[in-house]
Amino acid sequence: MVVELKKDVFWVGTVDWNLKKFHGHEYSTHRGTTYNSYLIVDEKIALVDTVWGPFSHELIENIKKIIDVKKIDYVIANHAETDHSGGLPELMELIPDATVVVSEKGRESIPKHYHEDWNFKVVTTGDSISLGKNSLVFVKATMLHWPDSMFTYLTGKNILMPNDAFGQHYASSARFNDEVDPAELYQEAIKYYANILTPFSDLVIKKIDEFKKLNIPVDIIAPSHGIIWRKDPMQIVEKYYEWASGGNDGSIVIIYDTMWKGTEKMAFAISEGLEKEGVRFKLFNMAVCDRNDVLTEVFKAKGILVGSPALNNGLLPTIKPILEDLKGLRFKNKFGAAFGTYGWSGENVKLLEENLEKAKIKVLQEGIKFKWQPTKEELEKCVEFGIGFAKKLKKS
Ligand code: FEO
Repeated sequence: MVVELKKDVFWVGTVDWNLKKFHGHEYSTHRGTTYNSYLIVDEKIALVDTVWGPFSHELIENIKKIIDVKKIDYVIANHAETDHSGGLPELMELIPDATVVVSEKGRESIPKHYHEDWNFKVVTTGDSISLGKNSLVFVKATMLHWPDSMFTYLTGKNILMPNDAFGQHYASSARFNDEVDPAELYQEAIKYYANILTPFSDLVIKKIDEFKKLNIPVDIIAPSHGIIWRKDPMQIVEKYYEWASGGNDGSIVIIYDTMWKGTEKMAFAISEGLEKEGVRFKLFNMAVCDRNDVLTEVFKAKGILVGSPALNNGLLPTIKPILEDLKGLRFKNKFGAAFGTYGWSGENVKLLEENLEKAKIKVLQEGIKFKWQPTKEELEKCVEFGIGFAKKLKKS
């Protein structure tokens, strides 16, 4: 299937309905994904990004529905990661003389992925390539999200192709944002931002400011994954600005795991305290919840309460991966506290607090821990702990 974005500009990408784990197994993609590739037919012909390697044949068949593949003059590789550059080897066998347009860092990394020395052309911000009636203009987007990342803009058609930025892992039979459920679309867009882009939030703000100053007309934002933004395309740019600035909805997320329900009883009692203070909360047991989904909820929230019983002078293994992610993702404007049960020496709460601090989450109040199973009185203290945390959070 091919879809025309504007006259002579086509989506020739592929839909991966069955992808449920991305980046190896690091990122859950419940709704699959797409690998978007765009064909521009002018006096010269350009293809912007390819697809993941296993979908190369489908990409080539899609291109053939529009032109003779051999007529492609330029292949723009906005990003070296293999879900977008993976189609290059099969495609370049058919067009060995075409020019592969890359950033300076892409020139270093793409040959290291494929061990091929294609006819590379290095571009940087402001460089352009005339295709005839219209031109491609390039903008370096270093660390959004790899060193090699860049954006491509098509003049005349006013289409921005920013690769991973503004994308979502969202397979659909529709291609445009006005054709899908906006709640599904935004859930995937924020999950993508929270799990992939948050470490680079300051750069996102800088890049958006830089782009706005250029005053370039944008009719369509066509990312490399998911839905294309054609109805009010700048809405996703404004959302990125809000997300990058550390906006939150004031709610609290409780994440925990439990061995014999003691820590879980504490979690429920703490949540009672939050309820008494009228603060919205969500509760996740990490033994059964999806890590990327929970990270997305933490990203939306203001407070994070984390609980684990002690195990072998440490924490339960199920709680550790999300703490590790939080350290790497460095969410802004988050406040936390810790809780849990213990049997012997009880280092768990201190360890949880250390992890929160390493993730730049400000610990708002001293953690709470009880030996073995909490008593009725101790659970009352957990309710008070929740009330205290909610009050402090409101003032933060
Ligand atoms: Fe950074 Fe979609 O790859």
